[in-house]
Amino acid sequence: MFKKIGVVGFGLMGTQITQFFAQQGLEVVAIDVSEESLKKGMEAIKAGRFGLQRLVEKGKITEDEMNAVLDRITTSTEYSALKDCDLVIEAVFEDVNLKLKVLKEIDAVVENAVIGSNTSSISITKLSSAVSNPEKFLGIHFFNPAQIQKLVELVKGLLSDEKLVSDIKEWFIQLGKVPIVVNDSPGFATSRLGLVLGKEAMLMVQEGVATPQDIDIGMMLGYGYSMGPIETGDLVGLDTRLRIYEAMYEATKDPKWAPPKLLVQLVDAGYLGDPSLKPGSKGGVYEYFGQERATQVLKRLGIRK
Ligand SMILES: NC(=O)c1ccc[n+]([C@@H]2O[C@H](COP(=O)([O-])OP(=O)(O)OC[C@H]3O[C@@H](n4cnc5c(N)ncnc54)[C@H](O)[C@@H]3O)[C@@H](O)[C@H]2O)c1
Repeated sequence: MFKKIGVVGFGLMGTQITQFFAQQGLEVVAIDVSEESLKKGMEAIKAGRFGLQRLVEKGKITEDEMNAVLDRITTSTEYSALKDCDLVIEAVFEDVNLKLKVLKEIDAVVENAVIGSNTSSISITKLSSAVSNPEKFLGIHFFNPAQIQKLVELVKGLLSDEKLVSDIKEWFIQLGKVPIVVNDSPGFATSRLGLVLGKEAMLMVQEGVATPQDIDIGMMLGYGYSMGPIETGDLVGLDTRLRIYEAMYEATKDPKWAPPKLLVQLVDAGYLGDPSLKPGSKGGVYEYFGQERATQVLKRLGIRK
């Protein structure tokens, strides 16, 4: 359906989304304002925790295939490089004003492209006001790590074209994903529930009810989660999590979405999440509390892979 994909914002999610599409044989143009992000992003695609070299080591792809995937990716700090893309996905910080500005910039350079946002929570209808064809705009919400996670949450704004959304759903199925379709509402279906659990877990750590590790093991073994809420927050990035709570609070004015104090303090202190995924981070909740991650504990005990 689409031949050349643009990805704007080459941070944690932008790099994963880029790798996913390039592995599917598609050309990808990745844009960031920061040269440093472009460099670190390409390093993550090549040698990171979910990167291509690991696939070569596991014998899942050959060295030649890895190089072919890398050759399909171009990076630039110039939005004009998006000109020939037929699908552009925005993945900059979770900040409504920044996203509106970035979408206007994308809209000014593309010709007739479908534009999607990887936002976790912000109104798709509001974001669609920044583009000239709001019917060709939708939420395309990937999950971390996007190269591996099967789920894609497609979000229909008030003006999104129904047929286009259903065609994109089919396209993702062909690419091996499992899409769900949700109507526009703050936090959509997934973040809205995930954020409630994540906030309550953080409040429990803050109150000293239990350690991060015990809370996560409780939810993994007691409720069948593959990863507990505290470790999920570390994986997402604590700064990104904080921005998502702030965006939810701004959109709804509901105190239920006010970020927990401990989260704000950790971000202020430089704890931005799992350092193996977040360059420059002092660590996540687990590093701050000096605990072994719950997924590692269960792996070590031979209970989970
Ligand atoms: N982290 C997750 O697990 C996750 C999962 C799903 C969705 N999301 C959503 O994806 C988006 C990005 O999150 P992330 O975790 O990748 O954040 P991140 O902080 O890792 O990356 C954001 C990137 O945007 C770049 N950027 C900022 N302004 C820009 C501009 N004007 N033009 C181009 N690039 C610009 C930054 O340099 C940075 O590299 C957010 O909307 C977030 O809510 C995140």
